[in-house]
Amino acid sequence: MSALVLVGAQWGDEGKGKITDFLARKADCVVRYQGGSNAGHTVEVMNEKFMLHLIPSGILYPDTLCVIANGVVVDMQKLIEEIEGLQQRGIDTSQLRISQRAPVVIPYHKKIDELEDLKSGIGTTKRGIGPAYADKINRIGFRIADFMNGRDFIIDRFKTQVEYKNRIIRELYGEEGFDCRELLDGLLQQADILKKYTADTSLLLYRSIQEGKKVMFEGAQGALLDIDHGTYPYVTSSNPIAGGACVGSGIGPTLINRVLGVAKAYSTRVGEGPFPTELQDSTGETLRERGAEFGTTTGRPRRCGWVDAVVLRYAARINGLTDLAITKLDVLDSFAAVKICVAYRYQGKLLYEFPENNQVLEQCEPEYLIMPGWQKDISDISEYEELPVNARAYLEKIEELTGVKQTLISVGPKRKQTIVNYELF
Ligand code: IMP
Repeated sequence: MSALVLVGAQWGDEGKGKITDFLARKADCVVRYQGGSNAGHTVEVMNEKFMLHLIPSGILYPDTLCVIANGVVVDMQKLIEEIEGLQQRGIDTSQLRISQRAPVVIPYHKKIDELEDLKSGIGTTKRGIGPAYADKINRIGFRIADFMNGRDFIIDRFKTQVEYKNRIIRELYGEEGFDCRELLDGLLQQADILKKYTADTSLLLYRSIQEGKKVMFEGAQGALLDIDHGTYPYVTSSNPIAGGACVGSGIGPTLINRVLGVAKAYSTRVGEGPFPTELQDSTGETLRERGAEFGTTTGRPRRCGWVDAVVLRYAARINGLTDLAITKLDVLDSFAAVKICVAYRYQGKLLYEFPENNQVLEQCEPEYLIMPGWQKDISDISEYEELPVNARAYLEKIEELTGVKQTLISVGPKRKQTIVNYELF
């Protein structure tokens, strides 16, 4: 039995797409279990760049089954565009499977997300994620299955929802509402296109794991964006942490045996919310430029800062991390010194655990350990022992502070720019 959950250990954008793609060469199945098209996973293969939003990063391997499980909120139009985009580039998408239980992101969700974000200032991706999950929890949402049984089955419920959403859009925001018939026609057509990909994905995954196949769950976003455990309300509306993989795919926790956290060698965050190690100076600017830190989904510049071991220790705890992958180590190549946040200073006291209270977090100042940089191009190094001694010391300090051993070190976007300390599968 071999099931691995891969999660972001920071605020998303940790380079999970590359690590998933790298590990997917050995996986029989890659599963998305939460989030939606707010995610943006970049994978670079043979000098070609692929941006994936809904489809699991395993899709670039022809024999890997790729599952969009019940926990993902699916924008069917975007999914069709992504499938067609891959097909146009010669990628076979026939191994894609989608759960009919997945909630559907409907254009009114995107509109409401856009309008509400103007007020809340969370800085969402405007992909309708929060409103779609809210409808799911409120039991007024629609699943893919609902659009597969024909118009008569859904029309009354759908009409009620469109009228309700139109009232919000028109009366609260003074904007144009949606035409019910046009909307439903579009969704029924999209569901018809996607029908051939649908499957009982919980059953499929259960059987695959029982048969000894290697199944990898690919988290989107990151631990600090988790709706329950992140920096609420500056979070996404799902559970990116490892526990989310069970709920979001219909697999019991006893079937999962490894949890891999992916963390950048520094920190970034998009959107608003507390970020203790943020650098609003030329060092932050250098990290942004060297790391090309601009959002895959929205193109927004990412906020940048030093690596935060308090955050990583917290991520290790709430995910139950067994292994860690460190990405973008090469981005730090030019620095004369590198810093690791080892604790927070709050009202004169040192805190070693991530605070539960955002107001406390906002007032925390990072306490840094300063280490010498390596000032050497490491992007061609493929063996751990060949890394400069200062780079190894930096990694080993992170390992010591988090208590999680490092399986993979990424020194560039390409598959071959990956140092393997030990095999996971
Ligand atoms: P939402 O998920 O679009 O509702 O956005 C909520 C928060 O999560 C915002 O701060 C977004 O910038 C952030 N977010 C959502 N998806 C990602 C991601 O894939 N990477 C990084 N941040 C994300």
